[in-house]
Amino acid sequence: MANCGAVLDNRLIMATAEQLKALLRSHAEGDDRHFFAVAMQMAAHEAKQGHGRLAEELRELIDAAKARRPANGSAAPIPLIRPKGDLAGLLSVSYPSQRLGQMVLAPAVAKSLQRVLKEQRHISKLQGHGLHPRRKLLLVGPSGTGKTMTAAALAGELGIALFVVRLDALITKFMGETAAKLRQVFDAVKLTRGVYFFDEFDAIGGHRGLSNDVGEIRRILNSFLLMIEQDDSNSVIVAATNHPEILDQALFRRFDDVIEYHVPSSEEIRELFRVRLGKYIRPAKRMDELVSAATGLSHAEITRAISDCIKDAVMADQDTVAPEVLIELLAQRQQVRQRTPSATRP
Ligand SMILES: Nc1ncnc2c1ncn2[C@@H]1O[C@H](COP(=O)(O)OP(=O)(O)OP(=O)(O)O)[C@@H](O)[C@H]1O
Ligand SMILES: [Mg+2]
Repeated sequence: MANCGAVLDNRLIMATAEQLKALLRSHAEGDDRHFFAVAMQMAAHEAKQGHGRLAEELRELIDAAKARRPANGSAAPIPLIRPKGDLAGLLSVSYPSQRLGQMVLAPAVAKSLQRVLKEQRHISKLQGHGLHPRRKLLLVGPSGTGKTMTAAALAGELGIALFVVRLDALITKFMGETAAKLRQVFDAVKLTRGVYFFDEFDAIGGHRGLSNDVGEIRRILNSFLLMIEQDDSNSVIVAATNHPEILDQALFRRFDDVIEYHVPSSEEIRELFRVRLGKYIRPAKRMDELVSAATGLSHAEITRAISDCIKDAVMADQDTVAPEVLIELLAQRQQVRQRTPSATRP
């Protein structure tokens, strides 16, 4: 009888040993999904052994780790899949550490993005109830207002990879087989959870009305629409454009949310100064004049003027920037803005 118990013990130890090995292997490979699956098996195994308390503790640890993981941008997952072959020219991957908190956003934009994050963080719970978390976003707005930064911040907040889809490469290089290439991109969307960013989205949508290659462009657009519609992956799809007027209404309907960006309001300009200038300016020093000098400029233009000004201060061994220098730099940006077409502005 004692012998029988020993055999049983040995088997249990072997099972646990296999699970431990699988746990370590999946951790080393950065395979979170497998890691948590094995950990859950171990909890179930303990429960079967009558170790209810331990099983419960393990489950709580797993839940806590899962909940912490997305917010922990510093623990960037090891990329499991690097785009290869044709896909390498179409997708570039990175693990941004950016956060939404680093951005200055209009209240409505911040609200929409927080909503997306919340639903993404409760993805399994929502899916468990047959609900679909928001994950197909169209960002619309002028250049330099934070569309690209948003895609990076969403990836940073969720702790997942940012895949930038190079639409220009997709269309010009592979004109004849674009639909097949798009298919490859959407296969990756399904295979590897990430934020997939279709920048210069108008490169597909905007060509629809052009007289040359209308048939071809229409086919590309239609297959893109179809793929967006059919996509039921766990990835977040973000498309951005600063030419919403040339996009077809059919495109808008495919997205869970269309988020509109604008040049910053006076309040947002103040916030941008606060965030970017930090210790480099004495509070309230000619703030109204600064805000008025920046009015009408994009976040990117204001940010550049600020960083030029900080560089000047640093090179001159000064601790703070001179407001008149910043006002001058902002005025220069205003002049550049008046001279350049909106599409080419930073
Ligand atoms: N909302 C914002 N809050 C803080 N900084 C911003 C914001 N928007 C833009 N910036 C600054 O401007 C830079 C450029 O912005 P971004 O590339 O996100 O603009 P965009 O809307 O994608 O422009 P484009 O339409 O030209 O691609 C950012 O890297 C950041 O430094
Ligand atoms: Mg951009």
